[in-house]
Amino acid sequence: MSTVAVILAAGLGKRMKSSLPKVLHPVLGDPSLLWVLRSLPSEISAAVLVLHFGREQVETALAEWRKEGLLPCPVHTVDQREPRGTGHAVQQAVPELDRLAPRRVIILSGDVPLLGKESVARLTALDSAMLAMDLLEPRGYGRVMQNSDGTLRGLVEEKDASSEILAIRRVNGGAYALPWCELKPALAGLSNENAQREYYLTDAVVAVAAKVPTHVELCDASELLGMNSRADQAQLQSLARRHINARWMEAGVTFLDPETTSVGPRVELAQDVLLEPTLRLEGQVQVGKGTRIGQGCVFRDCRIGAGAEIRPYCVGVDAVIGDHAKVGPFAHLRQGTRLDEKVHVGNFVETKKAHLHAGAKANHLSYLGDCEVGERTNIGAGLITCNYDGFHKHQTLIGQDVFVGSDCQLVAPIQLGDGCLIGAGSTITQDVPANAIALSRTAQVTREGAARRLRDRLKGGMS
Ligand code: UD1
Ligand code: MG
Repeated sequence: MSTVAVILAAGLGKRMKSSLPKVLHPVLGDPSLLWVLRSLPSEISAAVLVLHFGREQVETALAEWRKEGLLPCPVHTVDQREPRGTGHAVQQAVPELDRLAPRRVIILSGDVPLLGKESVARLTALDSAMLAMDLLEPRGYGRVMQNSDGTLRGLVEEKDASSEILAIRRVNGGAYALPWCELKPALAGLSNENAQREYYLTDAVVAVAAKVPTHVELCDASELLGMNSRADQAQLQSLARRHINARWMEAGVTFLDPETTSVGPRVELAQDVLLEPTLRLEGQVQVGKGTRIGQGCVFRDCRIGAGAEIRPYCVGVDAVIGDHAKVGPFAHLRQGTRLDEKVHVGNFVETKKAHLHAGAKANHLSYLGDCEVGERTNIGAGLITCNYDGFHKHQTLIGQDVFVGSDCQLVAPIQLGDGCLIGAGSTITQDVPANAIALSRTAQVTREGAARRLRDRLKGGMS
């Protein structure tokens, strides 16, 4: 059966007090809308996103996710122009739905990020259904009324409810699966004669339920929590954190302090990974077996091999770290960094578009940008690849088994041949052939006893 999703995301999100559209606010590094899109089961053939406030920002984000292959299906957008209620929002998707001609439509909210794939799949398994939750404090939600067989009889918004209905604790979760042939006429028949002068989607759902038995599926309240304020956002993050960390602990990962460790929804951790406190892994991060990641590290879109040791306070973005590498403390691996196996990158080393081949070492205080460093090469403390002339970036190519002494500058473009040796304190501006020694410093002058003579003279001048 062909199923299309409609995702509502036109609301202003006034209570977020933000210039960023509500659905782009992140939960553990991924925007709310990306969580919702990712929850769509594979049988959903397309999604129609109803946008208005911040439409351009959302479309830019969508284009990026599409490029990165993060969208589970084609996503079309429509503009609601004037938000006049959830029913009005779905009405805007009607031309797209007519074009896509689904048998069934799934409706979700872009600001409800934690609804799990399993719960969406429970909806898609039924012809006509909605998700509900039981709340001790149901304030703010629409109330659910059921027939004696449990199917849906009515939905009443709080502002339209009598005190009798207000006492109902089963509330509408705002997620639905409905047959398109029944939903379409129900949308056309909506009116805004209610307390809020809005076109309610819930009225259309009830109209469908009068024709087709509509199941009320109970769902965990934590999955249906919406992001309406920064406090909601914080609560969503802590719920997601607890859930994700528990899953990884179950899979054999050690968290020294799960409460302060944030692992995003797209992170993959192998067995025996050990995560120290206060670290953050976001986006597409993969960590291999037995790797330890130190306190305070932040990695985004990185691949980290097995048996690696990442010491505290390292930052990595778009970097690949090989098996048994040692990194940090305080290393900064910027985009395009590639460390092969057993590479060591030590404290206060910054890398960018740098490929360090197996066994290479840069243990202290260096900038390695736009460069290749060959196998087993040793980079002394304080090396700088001078890769930028103010206009263009240039490459530094360093061969294997090279020894670069401390405090050198390599002015790119430049090439150091295999096995060469660069004397400490050199500024190298010309290519160095294999196995050569190159140094560029003025000859040392040593004057015997001159220090004592100088001190004596200065002392004499003081008396
Ligand atoms: C809605 C339901 C309510 C349910 C609750 C669950 C209706 C009438 N009521 O209420 O029964 O308990 O969700 O969270 O549907 N949106 C648009 N355009 C609009 C209005 C809303 O795109 O004109 C979007 C919002 O951005 C949001 C979603 O629709 O993503 C839900 O809207 P919201 O205003 O939160 O609906 P509620 O009043 O909470
Ligand atoms: Mg709401």
